[in-house]
Amino acid sequence: MSKPLKLAVVGGRRGASFNHALARLKESVTFTAVCDLSEAMLASWRTEHPDIQTFTSYDDLLEKADCDAVFICTPMLLHAGQSVKALEAGKHVLSEVVAAATLDECWQLVETVERTGRAYMLAENFCYMRPNMMVLNMVQGGVFGDVVYTEGAYIHDCRALSFTPNNELTWRGELRRQFNGNLYPTHSLGPVSQWLGINRRDRLVSTATWTTPAVAAAAYVRERLGPDHPGAANGFWSPGDSATTVIQTERGAVIVLRVDWASPRPHNMTHYVVQGTSGAYLSGRHDKEDPLVWIDGQSPGRSYDGKAQWESLWSYADRYEHPQWRELGADATLSGHGGGDFFVLKAFCDAVQAGATPPIDVYDAVTWSAIVPLSIESVAKDNAPVAVPDFARRRKTR
Ligand SMILES: NC(=O)c1ccc[n+]([C@@H]2O[C@H](COP(=O)([O-])OP(=O)(O)OC[C@H]3O[C@@H](n4cnc5c(N)ncnc54)[C@H](O)[C@@H]3O)[C@@H](O)[C@H]2O)c1
Repeated sequence: MSKPLKLAVVGGRRGASFNHALARLKESVTFTAVCDLSEAMLASWRTEHPDIQTFTSYDDLLEKADCDAVFICTPMLLHAGQSVKALEAGKHVLSEVVAAATLDECWQLVETVERTGRAYMLAENFCYMRPNMMVLNMVQGGVFGDVVYTEGAYIHDCRALSFTPNNELTWRGELRRQFNGNLYPTHSLGPVSQWLGINRRDRLVSTATWTTPAVAAAAYVRERLGPDHPGAANGFWSPGDSATTVIQTERGAVIVLRVDWASPRPHNMTHYVVQGTSGAYLSGRHDKEDPLVWIDGQSPGRSYDGKAQWESLWSYADRYEHPQWRELGADATLSGHGGGDFFVLKAFCDAVQAGATPPIDVYDAVTWSAIVPLSIESVAKDNAPVAVPDFARRRKTR
């Protein structure tokens, strides 16, 4: 057994939510250092991890911390620059979503990972949630036939997270004030891309995005901060409440994504659909509802005679549970995001220890993240389709 990977965390708030996963992965990984701008945040880390090195400067951390790898958990627009710096310093990188926010950053990340030979992984934990992995196992086993259509949505009322306690904009608020597009696509596109074999047997070719007006965002500010606050005006927020992105793949499959950080509704963050030639999947509408499947030849009825009936995905767990969930589900469930945090950390550590390419590599990371700049471009061009760069083409020839 090799020694645990020494991991430094940058951005203490999100990093701390991995403490539970860490406790279950003690033999694989240890947090040796943390960097945050906030002294209070560092103090709370010292309480939780008495031996940890703490830094307020990222450059100091890269120079002085005793670590093999860096986990980037800072606000979104910092990820690509901090990842590149860490790779240049010889560290492996696990990056929170999204990986990069411009096409230039995407290409720079690819080039830096290829040149340095360090491991890079996007921490897209939604790929590892139990139903998403079970569906992956089913798609890979051909249960749904040829998958031609998918949907993914991330719908999370983050309006309160757009303001600090002093009513200034947080990074989420700033992002929504400045950019009009699909600003957080990877929770929806990640699992869907894995189901479709994107960057393996298919690739994204073109995409267009539409956004609604920012009415719920402005209404929230009027109600909570008063009508005179600048954010109460509809024109203050750049993107609308809801962004819908359509993507066509080279094989002709269609992906529909939605991200919505503002609309009010009961908590249910995700929505996924798979349509294949011999079955369909529909994620649960709320936390208490089972995800549903209909599988031709296994589920009751045929669809063309109107007698097909949805069944709970869980009624197929004995047959189709993903092997990783079968083995480690009990450990994973207790950690954040439906076990996704556990598996993402484990996958990264396993890959680094084995000298292998992580399962969500730099090509997947930038392909999924590129929807941010491409959607901004599409909205600016009156929703015109724009081409998706083939970031993974170099992987094919290497
Ligand atoms: N995958 C998921 O499910 C998930 C969930 C939550 C957050 N996130 C991601 O985690 C990241 C952080 O989100 P958050 O909600 O924790 O944000 P946050 O604003 O609550 O926390 C950001 C932290 O980073 C620190 N920070 C800011 N700039 C820094 C710098 N230059 N160097 C070091 N530290 C710095 C801040 O002091 C703060 O403690 C985002 O990219 C977000 O997308 C992912």
